[in-house]
Amino acid sequence: MSTPAPAVAARALIKTYPGDVTALNGMDVTVEAGTVFGLLGPNGAGKSTTVKILTTLARPDSGEATVAGHDVLRHPDRVRRAIGVVAQKSGADPVATGRENLRLQGRLYGLKGAALTRRVDELLERFDLAEAGARIVRGYSGGMLRRLDVALGLVHRPEVLFLDEPTTGLDPEARTAMWDEISRLAGDEGLTILLTTHYLEEADRLAERIAIVDRGRVVVEGTPDELKGELRGDAVHVELRKEGDRVVLTAVLSGLPGVHEVLVEGRRVSVRADDGAAAVPALLAALERAGAAVAAATVARPSLDDVYLRYAGRRFSEAESQSRSQSQSPELLPAGDAR
Ligand SMILES: Nc1ncnc2c1ncn2[C@@H]1O[C@H](COP(=O)(O)OP(=O)(O)O)[C@@H](O)[C@H]1O
Ligand SMILES: [Mg+2]
Repeated sequence: MSTPAPAVAARALIKTYPGDVTALNGMDVTVEAGTVFGLLGPNGAGKSTTVKILTTLARPDSGEATVAGHDVLRHPDRVRRAIGVVAQKSGADPVATGRENLRLQGRLYGLKGAALTRRVDELLERFDLAEAGARIVRGYSGGMLRRLDVALGLVHRPEVLFLDEPTTGLDPEARTAMWDEISRLAGDEGLTILLTTHYLEEADRLAERIAIVDRGRVVVEGTPDELKGELRGDAVHVELRKEGDRVVLTAVLSGLPGVHEVLVEGRRVSVRADDGAAAVPALLAALERAGAAVAAATVARPSLDDVYLRYAGRRFSEAESQSRSQSQSPELLPAGDAR
């Protein structure tokens, strides 16, 4: 048997907006069918623009993409039937009830009668909205509204579900609940999920593969473990009781097997170690022998933040604040593509 075609395949997407804004600058994305893929990047990186192109709501200046085997430019109608979209901003009608929203969405996809009622009941139940289904959406909490958005995207049983920042703006409790929902969806047979997020933890937790996006292109891609693994080892931080002699301690620690990148700053000693936990006893013993008494030691697995720093050349939080101060909010710009 040949390997199944990827659920999403985008090549060299370029998209510019008026005013010389390069939203996408050679964006490549491949998502294997039946997997959860995360596009992770700071605000303004081009995540929503990518989703809009893949869901036929915007056209690239150049490049090509297929979704569920259909070309987004040549057969947008086929793409639309195969996908569910949960946009960054809710698409639910605030003055209708949850149930009415779902029924309308179902009818748009040709469901009717008992089949429609069954599907709507099933989704209300599944997304814990059975009671809220009779209430006007305007009164929903952020978490309820987001769950309804996901349910709306699933009415017609799509093959590929796009979730654009599914938990942005949710409080921690609602975010955790949404993570559970998405994990459950990921277990659904055959469903492919492409989600975007600017939360490192969210990508780490939900996505089997992650592409880190910066300035309109992918800077690195892999499983969360692969990406972190490329950083060669754990960070070990040691706090000394008194300031240590930098030269002496650096020399002593650099000689230990499996230890690299030794940094001694006052009372703080940081190293990278192939296996952090295994390196700690030797590290502590070497420090004691050198006359440096230890107050505390911690081992940290490399984080996606470290990965981003390595490949994008700046900290994730820095990129977020830079993008906030540089870019105008697209909401304030004249309407271009449908958003
Ligand atoms: N309709 C638009 N008109 C003009 N600029 C836009 C529009 N949509 C997005 N942009 C700009 O394109 C860049 C990428 O935006 P976007 O894809 O929304 O990023 P993300 O979703 O990663 O935050 C940003 O600089 C943004 O300001
Ligand atoms: Mg966005």
